[in-house]
Amino acid sequence: FAAEAPRPLLKGKTVLITAGPTREKLDPVRYLTNHSTGKMGYAIAEEARKMGAHVILVSGPVTLKPPFGVETVNVESAQEMYEAVMKNYSDADVVIKTAAVADYRPKTVHGKKIKKQEGGQTLELERTKDILLELGRQKHHQLLVGFAAETDNVEEYARRKLAKKNADMIVANNVTEAGAGFGTDTNIVTLYKKDGSEVHMPLMSKADVARKLLAEIAHQLERDG
Ligand code: CTP
Ligand code: CA
Repeated sequence: FAAEAPRPLLKGKTVLITAGPTREKLDPVRYLTNHSTGKMGYAIAEEARKMGAHVILVSGPVTLKPPFGVETVNVESAQEMYEAVMKNYSDADVVIKTAAVADYRPKTVHGKKIKKQEGGQTLELERTKDILLELGRQKHHQLLVGFAAETDNVEEYARRKLAKKNADMIVANNVTEAGAGFGTDTNIVTLYKKDGSEVHMPLMSKADVARKLLAEIAHQLERDG
Protein backbone atom coordinates (compact mmCIF):
# COMPACT_ATOMS: atom_id res chain seq x y z
CA PHE A 1 0.00 0.00 0.00
CA ALA A 2 1.07 3.55 -0.64
CA ALA A 3 1.36 5.83 2.35
CA GLU A 4 -2.01 6.98 3.66
CA ALA A 5 -3.19 10.26 2.10
CA PRO A 6 -2.80 13.17 4.52
CA ARG A 7 -6.02 14.52 6.04
CA PRO A 8 -7.24 17.67 4.25
CA LEU A 9 -6.65 19.81 7.35
CA LEU A 10 -6.14 22.95 5.23
CA LYS A 11 -9.01 22.51 2.78
CA GLY A 12 -10.44 25.88 1.74
CA LYS A 13 -7.42 27.77 3.09
CA THR A 14 -4.99 29.85 1.06
CA VAL A 15 -1.40 29.51 2.21
CA LEU A 16 1.18 32.02 0.98
CA ILE A 17 4.77 30.78 1.32
CA THR A 18 8.06 32.51 0.55
CA ALA A 19 11.19 30.46 -0.05
CA GLY A 20 14.80 30.64 -1.09
CA PRO A 21 17.30 33.49 -1.01
CA THR A 22 17.02 36.89 -2.63
CA ARG A 23 19.58 38.35 -5.01
CA GLU A 24 20.55 42.00 -4.73
CA LYS A 25 22.23 43.31 -7.86
CA LEU A 26 25.50 45.23 -7.71
CA ASP A 27 26.29 45.40 -11.42
CA PRO A 28 25.35 43.31 -14.50
CA VAL A 29 27.58 40.42 -13.40
CA ARG A 30 27.46 40.49 -9.57
CA TYR A 31 24.97 40.26 -6.72
CA LEU A 32 24.68 39.71 -2.96
CA THR A 33 22.90 36.62 -1.70
CA ASN A 34 23.03 33.86 0.96
CA HIS A 35 23.12 30.07 1.35
CA SER A 36 19.38 29.40 1.29
CA THR A 37 18.41 26.59 -1.12
CA GLY A 38 14.63 26.83 -0.68
CA LYS A 39 14.24 23.22 0.47
CA MET A 40 12.30 24.01 3.66
CA GLY A 41 9.85 26.34 1.91
CA TYR A 42 9.31 24.00 -1.03
CA ALA A 43 8.66 21.11 1.36
CA ILE A 44 6.04 23.21 3.19
CA ALA A 45 4.44 24.20 -0.13
CA GLU A 46 4.18 20.57 -1.22
CA GLU A 47 2.77 19.34 2.11
CA ALA A 48 0.30 22.23 2.36
CA ARG A 49 -1.07 21.33 -1.06
CA LYS A 50 -1.40 17.69 -0.01
CA MET A 51 -3.36 18.88 3.02
CA GLY A 52 -5.85 20.54 0.70
CA ALA A 53 -4.68 24.17 0.72
CA HIS A 54 -4.49 26.53 -2.22
CA VAL A 55 -0.78 27.32 -2.17
CA ILE A 56 0.97 30.39 -3.55
CA LEU A 57 4.75 30.05 -3.46
CA VAL A 58 6.81 33.21 -3.90
CA SER A 59 10.28 31.93 -4.63
CA GLY A 60 13.69 33.49 -4.88
CA PRO A 61 16.19 31.95 -7.31
CA VAL A 62 16.62 28.25 -6.48
CA THR A 63 17.34 25.09 -8.48
CA LEU A 64 14.30 23.16 -7.17
CA LYS A 65 11.35 22.17 -9.35
CA PRO A 66 8.10 23.97 -8.48
CA PRO A 67 5.92 21.51 -6.53
CA PHE A 68 2.97 20.00 -8.39
CA GLY A 69 -0.28 21.91 -8.05
CA VAL A 70 1.32 24.98 -6.46
CA GLU A 71 0.99 28.48 -7.94
CA THR A 72 4.61 29.65 -8.12
CA VAL A 73 5.72 33.26 -8.52
CA ASN A 74 9.43 33.70 -9.24
CA VAL A 75 11.21 36.77 -7.92
CA GLU A 76 14.80 37.92 -7.50
CA SER A 77 15.27 40.82 -5.13
CA ALA A 78 13.83 41.56 -1.69
CA GLN A 79 11.85 44.39 -3.27
CA GLU A 80 10.29 42.04 -5.85
CA MET A 81 9.48 39.53 -3.10
CA TYR A 82 7.87 42.30 -1.05
CA GLU A 83 5.66 43.32 -3.98
CA ALA A 84 4.61 39.75 -4.83
CA VAL A 85 3.78 39.00 -1.19
CA MET A 86 1.77 42.19 -0.68
CA LYS A 87 -0.21 41.54 -3.85
CA ASN A 88 -1.40 38.22 -2.45
CA TYR A 89 -1.67 39.15 1.24
CA SER A 90 -5.37 39.94 1.49
CA ASP A 91 -6.30 36.56 -0.06
CA ALA A 92 -4.10 34.60 2.33
CA ASP A 93 -5.27 32.82 5.49
CA VAL A 94 -1.73 31.83 6.42
CA VAL A 95 1.64 33.33 5.47
CA ILE A 96 4.80 31.29 6.04
CA LYS A 97 8.02 33.21 5.50
CA THR A 98 10.84 30.71 5.08
CA ALA A 99 12.70 32.96 2.63
CA ALA A 100 16.14 34.20 3.60
CA VAL A 101 15.58 37.80 2.57
CA ALA A 102 18.69 39.95 2.17
CA ASP A 103 18.72 42.65 4.87
CA TYR A 104 20.83 44.98 2.72
CA ARG A 105 21.29 45.76 -0.94
CA PRO A 106 23.96 47.78 -2.76
CA LYS A 107 23.00 51.44 -2.61
CA THR A 108 24.01 51.94 -6.22
CA VAL A 109 23.31 49.39 -8.94
CA HIS A 110 25.90 50.00 -11.62
CA GLY A 111 24.80 49.77 -15.24
CA LYS A 112 28.24 48.65 -16.35
CA LYS A 113 30.60 46.10 -14.85
CA ILE A 114 32.67 47.61 -12.07
CA LYS A 115 36.34 47.46 -13.00
CA LYS A 116 38.93 46.53 -10.41
CA GLN A 117 41.35 49.11 -9.18
CA GLU A 118 44.49 49.15 -7.09
CA GLY A 119 43.81 48.80 -3.38
CA GLY A 120 40.62 47.89 -1.54
CA GLN A 121 37.02 48.73 -2.25
CA THR A 122 34.14 49.68 0.04
CA LEU A 123 30.55 48.78 -0.80
CA GLU A 124 27.81 51.07 0.35
CA LEU A 125 24.67 49.17 1.36
CA GLU A 126 21.14 50.22 2.25
CA ARG A 127 18.37 48.35 4.06
CA THR A 128 15.76 46.35 2.19
CA LYS A 129 12.14 46.28 3.35
CA ASP A 130 11.41 43.87 6.19
CA ILE A 131 8.55 41.99 4.60
CA LEU A 132 7.44 40.11 7.72
CA LEU A 133 7.47 43.31 9.78
CA GLU A 134 5.22 44.96 7.21
CA LEU A 135 2.89 41.92 7.14
CA GLY A 136 2.67 42.14 10.92
CA ARG A 137 1.72 45.82 10.74
CA GLN A 138 -0.98 45.22 8.14
CA LYS A 139 -2.29 41.99 9.68
CA HIS A 140 -6.05 41.55 9.92
CA HIS A 141 -7.16 37.88 9.87
CA GLN A 142 -3.96 36.18 8.69
CA LEU A 143 -1.87 33.74 10.71
CA LEU A 144 1.75 34.85 10.33
CA VAL A 145 4.64 32.41 10.61
CA GLY A 146 8.27 33.53 10.42
CA PHE A 147 11.49 31.56 10.33
CA ALA A 148 14.69 32.45 12.10
CA ALA A 149 18.06 30.93 11.29
CA GLU A 150 20.40 31.72 14.16
CA THR A 151 23.91 30.79 15.24
CA ASP A 152 23.49 31.64 18.96
CA ASN A 153 20.91 32.77 21.58
CA VAL A 154 18.23 31.04 19.51
CA GLU A 155 15.31 31.34 21.94
CA GLU A 156 15.96 34.96 22.87
CA TYR A 157 16.27 36.12 19.26
CA ALA A 158 13.27 34.05 18.15
CA ARG A 159 11.02 35.45 20.88
CA ARG A 160 12.18 38.97 20.10
CA LYS A 161 11.27 38.51 16.41
CA LEU A 162 7.89 37.04 17.34
CA ALA A 163 7.02 40.18 19.30
CA LYS A 164 8.62 42.78 17.06
CA LYS A 165 7.08 41.46 13.84
CA ASN A 166 3.65 40.75 15.35
CA ALA A 167 3.95 37.13 14.16
CA ASP A 168 1.90 34.23 15.54
CA MET A 169 4.72 31.70 15.35
CA ILE A 170 8.45 31.72 14.76
CA VAL A 171 10.23 28.56 13.66
CA ALA A 172 13.81 28.81 14.80
CA ASN A 173 16.83 26.70 14.14
CA ASN A 174 20.47 26.82 15.03
CA VAL A 175 22.23 26.57 11.67
CA THR A 176 25.49 25.51 13.34
CA GLU A 177 23.91 22.23 14.55
CA ALA A 178 24.62 19.13 12.44
CA GLY A 179 21.51 18.30 10.40
CA ALA A 180 20.01 21.79 10.66
CA GLY A 181 22.17 23.86 8.33
CA PHE A 182 21.60 25.16 4.82
CA GLY A 183 20.94 22.75 1.99
CA THR A 184 20.32 19.70 4.18
CA ASP A 185 17.29 17.42 3.80
CA THR A 186 16.77 17.46 7.56
CA ASN A 187 16.19 20.13 10.17
CA ILE A 188 16.07 20.58 13.95
CA VAL A 189 13.67 23.36 14.92
CA THR A 190 11.71 24.82 17.78
CA LEU A 191 8.37 26.45 17.18
CA TYR A 192 7.78 29.48 19.43
CA LYS A 193 4.17 30.57 19.71
CA LYS A 194 2.57 33.86 20.65
CA ASP A 195 0.92 32.31 23.73
CA GLY A 196 4.39 31.59 25.12
CA SER A 197 4.36 27.85 24.45
CA GLU A 198 6.91 26.04 22.33
CA VAL A 199 7.12 22.82 20.33
CA HIS A 200 10.50 21.13 19.92
CA MET A 201 11.09 19.11 16.79
CA PRO A 202 14.17 16.92 17.03
CA LEU A 203 16.18 15.92 13.94
CA MET A 204 13.71 14.98 11.22
CA SER A 205 13.27 15.33 7.46
CA LYS A 206 12.16 18.72 6.15
CA ALA A 207 8.99 17.00 4.88
CA ASP A 208 8.22 15.87 8.45
CA VAL A 209 8.97 19.35 9.85
CA ALA A 210 6.59 20.72 7.20
CA ARG A 211 3.80 18.29 8.15
CA LYS A 212 4.18 18.94 11.87
CA LEU A 213 4.28 22.69 11.41
CA LEU A 214 1.21 22.67 9.14
CA ALA A 215 -0.70 20.49 11.62
CA GLU A 216 0.10 23.06 14.35
CA ILE A 217 -1.07 25.84 12.04
CA ALA A 218 -4.30 23.99 11.19
CA HIS A 219 -5.07 23.53 14.90
CA GLN A 220 -4.38 27.19 15.57
CA LEU A 221 -6.76 28.19 12.74
CA GLU A 222 -9.39 25.95 14.28
CA ARG A 223 -8.91 27.53 17.71
CA ASP A 224 -9.04 31.03 16.21
CA GLY A 225 -12.27 30.02 14.44
N1 CTP B 1 12.28 38.72 6.82
C1 CTP B 1 11.56 39.44 5.90
N2 CTP B 1 12.13 40.50 5.26
C2 CTP B 1 13.39 40.88 5.53
C3 CTP B 1 14.15 40.15 6.47
C4 CTP B 1 13.57 39.06 7.10
O1 CTP B 1 10.40 39.09 5.68
N3 CTP B 1 13.91 41.92 4.89
C5 CTP B 1 11.64 37.57 7.49
C6 CTP B 1 12.25 36.24 7.12
O2 CTP B 1 11.65 35.69 5.97
C7 CTP B 1 11.97 35.40 8.35
C8 CTP B 1 11.97 36.42 9.48
O3 CTP B 1 11.78 37.69 8.88
O4 CTP B 1 10.73 34.79 8.32
C9 CTP B 1 13.21 36.45 10.30
O5 CTP B 1 14.32 36.66 9.46
P1 CTP B 1 15.75 36.86 10.09
O6 CTP B 1 16.74 37.15 9.03
O7 CTP B 1 16.00 35.70 11.02
O8 CTP B 1 15.48 38.14 11.03
P2 CTP B 1 15.84 39.66 10.88
O9 CTP B 1 14.66 40.41 11.41
O10 CTP B 1 16.27 40.01 9.49
O11 CTP B 1 17.02 39.86 11.91
P3 CTP B 1 18.56 39.38 11.83
O12 CTP B 1 18.88 39.01 10.41
O13 CTP B 1 19.31 40.57 12.33
O14 CTP B 1 18.66 38.20 12.78
CA1 CA C 1 17.95 38.94 8.36
